Amino acid sequence: MALCKRRGFIYQASEIYGGINGFWDYGPMGTQLKKNLRDAWWQDMILRPCWGRNGPNGKPVRNVGLETCIIQHPKVWEASGHVGGFNDPMVDDTETKQRFRADHLAAAHLIATGPSRESVVASPLIGVAITQLHPTATFVDANASWDEFLKLDQIKKRKLHIVEAQTLVLSELVGTSLLCQNGKTGEWEYWVLRPIPLSALREIYKEIPSPFTGKKGTLTEPRMFNLMFDTIPGAIRDEANKAYLRPETAQGVFVQFKNVVDTSRIKMPFGIGNTGRSFRNEVTPRNFTFRSREFEQAELEFFCHPDESLEWYKFWRDFRMEWWKTIGLAGENLILREHEKDELSHYSQGTSDVEYRFPFTAPGFGELEGIAHRGNYDLTQHQKVSGVKLDFFDTERGETLPNGGKKGERYIPHCIEPAAGLDRGALALICEGYTHDASRASPEFLKLHPRVAPIKAAVFPLVAKDGMPEVAEKLHTELNDKFWKLGGIEMDEKQSIGKRYARMDEIGTPFCITIDGDTMSQQIVTIRNRDTAQQEKVSLDKVGAFLSEKLGV
Ligand code: GAP
Repeated sequence: MALCKRRGFIYQASEIYGGINGFWDYGPMGTQLKKNLRDAWWQDMILRPCWGRNGPNGKPVRNVGLETCIIQHPKVWEASGHVGGFNDPMVDDTETKQRFRADHLAAAHLIATGPSRESVVASPLIGVAITQLHPTATFVDANASWDEFLKLDQIKKRKLHIVEAQTLVLSELVGTSLLCQNGKTGEWEYWVLRPIPLSALREIYKEIPSPFTGKKGTLTEPRMFNLMFDTIPGAIRDEANKAYLRPETAQGVFVQFKNVVDTSRIKMPFGIGNTGRSFRNEVTPRNFTFRSREFEQAELEFFCHPDESLEWYKFWRDFRMEWWKTIGLAGENLILREHEKDELSHYSQGTSDVEYRFPFTAPGFGELEGIAHRGNYDLTQHQKVSGVKLDFFDTERGETLPNGGKKGERYIPHCIEPAAGLDRGALALICEGYTHDASRASPEFLKLHPRVAPIKAAVFPLVAKDGMPEVAEKLHTELNDKFWKLGGIEMDEKQSIGKRYARMDEIGTPFCITIDGDTMSQQIVTIRNRDTAQQEKVSLDKVGAFLSEKLGV
């Protein structure tokens, strides 16, 4: 976070007024990094989907773009289920004025006062077990052995504070099993963490100690809290005119499905991509930009015939995982987690998450993108509520006619939705790139993939005399003319060369080109590689070609 602030990646929104919880602004470097990420998504999903690869139907993948409003007709959110269902139960601590999710509390309470309550060794082991507990972690498996659990021994030493562990991660653990020691028998048992239903919580909330102070009786009764921000468009402040800021970009696509079909030459199967800001009034925004109240999504709604939907689901799931790897998230910090059957909505045949091991989720993972099989739920809902037909007449299906053509088939398409978060993406790229090397002039630097790095290269005159600044300026102009679309080339002549390298390392610039004595005498420059700190000599007139090759453009 300090590096992000210092080098102009991410600032707290409204910082001079003390900031505003859950909102973040991007500085010059962060803005370009996020733009590069958004552009990479748009290029590989809309302009040349899947790098020109064929889909499971053996044909090139076809997608188009769309840009829809943040404020839609309120009925959109009734039809989508967000007005009725996009709620979190919330509890306030009247003493500390802290607010948190009641389902976190419910799960925490279950541990502390569940059926074998006296038996639980609460702290710090439970804290350790909780932070370790992720559905993909091997020891969570009901067949995992005690030996496997013991391997976590070194982590026990972290002495995680139990209250913090409860309030931070419990909601993500509901439904998973937890290894606990039975205080009476000494046996280790798996307990499944279940939320207490809200109705039951209402009965017992007075008995639950505040997670902040440990006192009983200071918590308010749980209330449902809708995550959508509302606003009233127009001059008359009448509740009846209430509208919402979108909590996802996806619904804009469903409500414009008919217009896109009627006004473009698109044929099934095809996708519609939509990127932009979404808003959720998260009860407890946290972990830097990971859970914000205003964030940016890049979503594709891919429509296909129901019979082909499972194949397309698998195709998008695998492609999206591969895509994140190509822009620098390769390695064991990235996983694909397929949801269990009982985690799926009734209409879904599959959902998986691309997850990244952020420093604040480690050793667990946090969601970067969800790939969901949404069936025909959304189009059906909007058709029902709007009364407008949202089916598709597919002229390439149905019986073959005597003239060789097809009779056609009318159906409501199924939808596969890869839904990525660009802020989480940018944060994952920064976390993955963040490297500490005490032997360097700047002990921390960012190993960003060249495709997303905000600055692609920097030109430095070794000293500000002997004609070097002029040669550097000329090279800078030439390179910038060639590469400006990718984010640009910088020129820097201030401070020592070491400090200039250090600054470029910290913002993730892959190459630094120095104009030195050799340039003046032999037309040769020195190019330094950010990751290896190795320097190589390149002829001045070959620098453009060198960068083209290294940047892959
Ligand atoms: N249309 C489906 C949908 O919106 P989601 O899993 O709720 O699905 C998709 O959101 C992605 O949006 C997430 O994987 C995450 O990257 C991002 N996202 C969701 N809520 C967020 C928040 N409060 N702050 C930052 N990013 C968020």
